[in-house]
Amino acid sequence: MKRFLTVTDIGDLKKALAEATEVKKNPYAWDQLGKNKTIILIFFNSSLRTRLSTQKAAMNLGMNVIVLDVNKDGWKLETEFGVVMDGDKPEHLREAVPVIGRYCDIIAVRSFASFEDKKADYEEQILNQFIEFAGVPVISMESATRHPLQAFADLFTIEEYKKTDKPKVVLTWAPHPRALPQAVPNSFVEWMKEGDVEFVVTHPKGYELAPEFMEGVSVEYDQKKAFEGADFIYAKNWASFTDYGKILSQDKSWTVDEEKMAVTNQAKFMHCLPVRRNMIVTDGVIDSPDSIVIDEAANREVSAQVVIKRMLESLK
Ligand code: CP
Repeated sequence: MKRFLTVTDIGDLKKALAEATEVKKNPYAWDQLGKNKTIILIFFNSSLRTRLSTQKAAMNLGMNVIVLDVNKDGWKLETEFGVVMDGDKPEHLREAVPVIGRYCDIIAVRSFASFEDKKADYEEQILNQFIEFAGVPVISMESATRHPLQAFADLFTIEEYKKTDKPKVVLTWAPHPRALPQAVPNSFVEWMKEGDVEFVVTHPKGYELAPEFMEGVSVEYDQKKAFEGADFIYAKNWASFTDYGKILSQDKSWTVDEEKMAVTNQAKFMHCLPVRRNMIVTDGVIDSPDSIVIDEAANREVSAQVVIKRMLESLK
């Protein structure tokens, strides 16, 4: 595996989920695979889970791990081409990325949407420079449009908890005080479409996700109707795609609460975290026995380990 950005990069999903089960059962079984190999985790944006779970996954495989916070360490990096570099960014990604690639065997990078330029974000301007210039395999730890390590962990968590062969999974928009990227919902949609689930997305009008992700996906604008009979409720906020990066609503009637969960099939509650309590979800729901957000976050270590393991195997 040379890159991990989309669901297609993982290949056969059933095989990947079986491998995740093996890795979870015995995470140290491949602790020699990464001996004398180095992974760098590069962050343009903050993280708790991705930083820790990816580092832990690499350590389980015996790798050396370097973490670089671009905002604190190294030089400020220019990402645009053709600019006169007379500002506060003394180094261009064009040099920085191949240099990093000489020191490391795998590069993992987190770079969120800027919300300044929809075209640049959806063309993955930063991530694609890593892919083009790194010379080594690249893992997305959340890019402008996708968060594949999260979605892989989410699908694996659903597999672990499902009580029927084809559970009903609902992705619901929920309110938030800040404009958040579409990466998590985009990837969740992408992975659910390939998974063995009945899938419905619910959100207020104006929050339609990019058509390239939503083709063939059911949308129900009535949130409570969408929740009926659901086995999994996956809550997430995202800013508008059409009115790019804008907050169109902070309507608290979309907060996931006990009343809405009552119409589900005793659904499990999921969220990628971090979560704003009593904005996205009430304390009562997230603290209930049906909330699986902690197990979901724990599975981030598993999804990262499967991906890094496959990359190490392809380096041999
Ligand atoms: N879910 C997730 O990616 O968490 P972090 O932003 O803390 O890494």
